[in-house]
Amino acid sequence: MHDKVLILDFGSQVTQLIARRVREAQVYCEIHPNDVSDDFIKAFMPKAIILSGSHASTYEDHELRAPAQVWQQGVPVLGICYGMQTMAVQLGGQVSWSDHREFGYAEVRAHGHTQLLSGIEDFATPEGHGMLKVWMSHGDKVSALPPGFKLMASTPSCPIAGMADESRHFYAVQFHPEVTHTLKGEAMLRRFVRDIAGCQGDWQMGSYIDEAVAKIREQVGDEEVILGLSGGVDSSVAAALIHRAIGDQLTCVFVDHGLLRLNEGDAVMEMFEGKLHAHVVRVDASELFLKELAGVTDPEQKRKIIGRLFVDVFKAEAEKLKAGDRGHKGAKWLAQGTIYPDVVESGGTKTKKATTIKSHHNVGGLPEQLGLKLLEPLRELFKDEVRALGVALGLPAEMVYRHPFPGPGLGVRILGEVKKEYADLLRRADAIFIEELRGWKDEATGKSWYELTSQAFTVFLPVKSVGVMGDGRTYDYVVALRAVQTSDFMTADWAELPYGLLKKVSGRIINEVRGINRVTYDVSSKPPATIEWE
Ligand code: XMP
Repeated sequence: MHDKVLILDFGSQVTQLIARRVREAQVYCEIHPNDVSDDFIKAFMPKAIILSGSHASTYEDHELRAPAQVWQQGVPVLGICYGMQTMAVQLGGQVSWSDHREFGYAEVRAHGHTQLLSGIEDFATPEGHGMLKVWMSHGDKVSALPPGFKLMASTPSCPIAGMADESRHFYAVQFHPEVTHTLKGEAMLRRFVRDIAGCQGDWQMGSYIDEAVAKIREQVGDEEVILGLSGGVDSSVAAALIHRAIGDQLTCVFVDHGLLRLNEGDAVMEMFEGKLHAHVVRVDASELFLKELAGVTDPEQKRKIIGRLFVDVFKAEAEKLKAGDRGHKGAKWLAQGTIYPDVVESGGTKTKKATTIKSHHNVGGLPEQLGLKLLEPLRELFKDEVRALGVALGLPAEMVYRHPFPGPGLGVRILGEVKKEYADLLRRADAIFIEELRGWKDEATGKSWYELTSQAFTVFLPVKSVGVMGDGRTYDYVVALRAVQTSDFMTADWAELPYGLLKKVSGRIINEVRGINRVTYDVSSKPPATIEWE
């Protein structure tokens, strides 16, 4: 069993970042609501506990507390922001409303030579004080240390920016070590979980495969599993992992809705059937999708039609596999590529204090309707871990590090009515754009522009514009290139692609894709625009 760290979530938007930093230190951790029971904590057997930040104020909400067991478990505790304030209040210190809201960059002076900060600094003052560049975001602050605590960090406006009771290994910081703006944040969290809590660092994707494979085999036994393969990262890695575990007991169903990128369907088959020798049922439903989409122009209606048909086609195939056609005994399980952020985002505390961001389509639904048991082997993993696992399983990096692609596919990248002619033109134009992005290196970083952007694609505009080619006049379609940089897809900046790259892409599209005579570049940020055009 792995060493485990328990993260209690008080409702901060960045709690997941704490978990990611801890996992990067190769320590397994889980996020749970702040109001779990004492028995839950005992049974979890954490090697350390971390208390997250929150939107709440200890003044406004006196109920938002850590369970008493946190202080009695006998393991190191780290409080972050609100987590520090509740630690102070619960252990006999004081918190006061700050008339000085601190938000953003701050320079913190380290005090007291604590184990948490020892040797960790960004620079030293002429007097020799160790200084840290950190990210602060808080209104309240600790105004009196609890008994037994000493000062660990301060800023001029926040005299108690960190505190520690080293006899009990209780530490707390007012700033946010989990965000990358706190330059040494990763080092601090690593110090806490590895050195102070003594976690071994046994959470590594290479060795995780054996464990995951054993778990799947134990769960499934000799029963059969169906998995919906979309070509996306999560379902691909789930398929590769389950196939490694149970081989022919797995059947993948790949519904091709005709709105995929150029050669995408063939590439999926080539990888899973060709290289991994997995059973894949490819259902070519493109005609059905196009027929149902004919004459429909409203984006949300298009999404609904595509989503509904997808489920219908998948269900029909799953029913057949369940009934045991194709020489099988009949599937008992439905596998899904649900990942950890899908699970925690759909959660929230019992007292509903945590912000529930969105409920994800992967959680619930299909398995019940089909009467199948649910297998979710990636449920504990973050996206970066899923990618690392994919590479460790032998999937090509190009597949595993691909930009996200929406479920409705090109259906929302063809404005208005979807037609096969439009989809064919768009596929070819988009393939050129992506090929050039992959090939064009940025000199400063050595990375390709595909790696430097978070999502890039081409949009088909069903309008015609006049052009001239050779001696003749053309009257053809227009496409827009879209490339954005973002960390969370909630906000995004348009990427400042080099002009030379844009020039090459537009030249190639207009010359190579007969039917398109004009290429534009989308220079809108999100908000107010969205990333997709529909
Ligand atoms: P927007 O356009 O809302 O996109 O700024 C944010 C992210 O979500 C993706 N997206 C979708 N993904 N089904 C999906 O699976 C959809 O209907 C859908 N719409 C947008 C988009 O590609 C971007 O990554």
